[in-house]
Amino acid sequence: MMIAKNTIGLLALLVVSSGLIFSASAQAADPRNGAIIYSKHCSSCHGPKGQGAMPGMPDFTRPQSLAVADDKLVQVLETGAGMMPSYRGLLTTQDMLDVISHIRTFQ
Ligand code: HEC
Repeated sequence: MMIAKNTIGLLALLVVSSGLIFSASAQAADPRNGAIIYSKHCSSCHGPKGQGAMPGMPDFTRPQSLAVADDKLVQVLETGAGMMPSYRGLLTTQDMLDVISHIRTFQ
């Protein structure tokens, strides 16, 4: 009984502390990871330089594009938009923030 209790307590501690580590590392976006994700998932439509690989794509190099906060763009990636698929379940929120920081470098 005591052992089971301790095990549960230890597991709870592990869950809590890994959550803390995750949220601490979720602070800064990593544009290099973003570049890898971009070339894998995004450049076929948005083009290697973000100008759009085909008609109907937004041009990320225009100064007036991406004029919303990162969390709004995360929402766009989670839900998808028009022809763009949803990346929910495929990319983590951190991956989305990383790739957003990468597309902001196109401007
Ligand atoms: C199948 C083609 C396709 C792929 C793949 C794709 N997109 Fe898109 N994306 C689009 C289209 C089309 C739009 C414009 C949607 C609309 O509003 O009609 C768009 C819109 C966006 C927007 C919103 C732009 C704005 O100014 O509001 C962002 C941000 C974006 N894409 C990022 C990405 C990222 C990051 C990836 C890779 C993880 C990606 N897209 C993959 C086609 C694609």
